[in-house]
Amino acid sequence: MNVHDSEKVIGTLRQQGYSQVDTPDDAGLVLYNTCSIRDKAEQKVFNRLQNFKKAAGKDKIFGVLGCVAQQEGEKIFDRAPHVSLVCGSASYPKFGDMLVQLEAGNRHITGLSLDTEETFDTPFTSRDNPHRAYITIIEGCDKSCAYCVVPFTRGPERSRTSESVMAEARRLAADGYTEIQLLGQNVNSYRDPSPAGWDFATLLARIAEVSGIRRVRYTTSHPRDFVKAIVDAMDANPVLCDHVHLPVQSGSTRVLAAMDRLYTRDDYMRRIDWLKNAKRPYALTTDIIVGFPGETEQDFQATLDLLDEVQYDSLFSFKYSPRPNTAALDMPDRIAEEEKQRRLLIVQEKQRAIQIRRNAEMIGQIREVHVEGRHQSLGQWIGRTSDNRTLNFTHPSANGDTLIGTYLSVRVTRSGPNSLVGETATVV
Ligand code: 5AD
Ligand code: SF4
Repeated sequence: MNVHDSEKVIGTLRQQGYSQVDTPDDAGLVLYNTCSIRDKAEQKVFNRLQNFKKAAGKDKIFGVLGCVAQQEGEKIFDRAPHVSLVCGSASYPKFGDMLVQLEAGNRHITGLSLDTEETFDTPFTSRDNPHRAYITIIEGCDKSCAYCVVPFTRGPERSRTSESVMAEARRLAADGYTEIQLLGQNVNSYRDPSPAGWDFATLLARIAEVSGIRRVRYTTSHPRDFVKAIVDAMDANPVLCDHVHLPVQSGSTRVLAAMDRLYTRDDYMRRIDWLKNAKRPYALTTDIIVGFPGETEQDFQATLDLLDEVQYDSLFSFKYSPRPNTAALDMPDRIAEEEKQRRLLIVQEKQRAIQIRRNAEMIGQIREVHVEGRHQSLGQWIGRTSDNRTLNFTHPSANGDTLIGTYLSVRVTRSGPNSLVGETATVV
């Protein structure tokens, strides 16, 4: 989401006559896009701002964008007086106007209102990758997970009209993009604000029908809003990739209730069953938080059991990190840092063993990859499968950039915990 925000901000800058340079040293305007989902993000931002100041002197303009900007607000001007612009993502639709103010000499510009129904739609997005493109379908979040800062930094949910999402997808296809990734904090609660009133499953099905688009992914899903119609839409059209990221956070119903996740372990497992009994196999991935306040050894064991039961293809695991404004901040029974670390390592070790086993099962299979790049030193191309595995492979004509962006059939010959290795079978 942040990467795509930057693409839109850069596009807006270019459209207003700016050009991108390689280092902050070369820049007249330095914008720092920030995330505050975990850790002491704000501390890192202030450290970096100090470094910018030392490196840059007085003839540069600085701005802080994103979730730390939203969270710290005016305090940023106090702690880093060389900053001229503080702007959260809900105010990006006004970013162009803010640039005009900066150019007019205003050195104290804020975009901190969360009271918005607008989304940041711009035809000027400056996309980094010529083959795979992000499309935001919904911004903000109306849930209130007890650990999460996002509702405070990105504001309430706003869905884009289906018409504008479809128009963007068609434009991307016409420009040669073949893979689309739909983005939102909770894509499953997408609701078309126009009279058509599409839900997420309908939008998915329609995007997959856009001529020229070969792969569609989406992230992130909230299990509570992950309805059977989404699986049915995926089953009906293989353009919708063989992968679902369904963050569970914990395997303990008690902890899920404390987190205010709005589902039980059983509710979650019902969704996993839909996916496991679907028409084709789907890779499943998740997010896990260990050490949420009050998480007992028994709760933690329930998470480990869940990993055994689901057999995820991959997961992201995090130590619980207290965030400002959130409900969990005042909860009793904080877990000690060393204990969080211990639990994190146990989760990661267990998952590593699962991945080694699951990836080894792929050996001998032929998979279609979208070629993303090249490892020059290894003499391998970097491919991605529909189920979101990295499959690096050798190809007889190994020179130049010619394979990037194409789709090829690759036979898997080796596997590791995080990726597969193979060789081209036949060109698709
Ligand atoms: N502490 C730890 N992990 C968090 N996440 C979100 N907020 C926190 C927090 N305060 C994790 C969740 C979420 C992912 C994007 O980041 O697992 O799904
Ligand atoms: Fe945060 Fe929960 Fe919203 Fe996801 S659904 S962004 S975890 S509040």
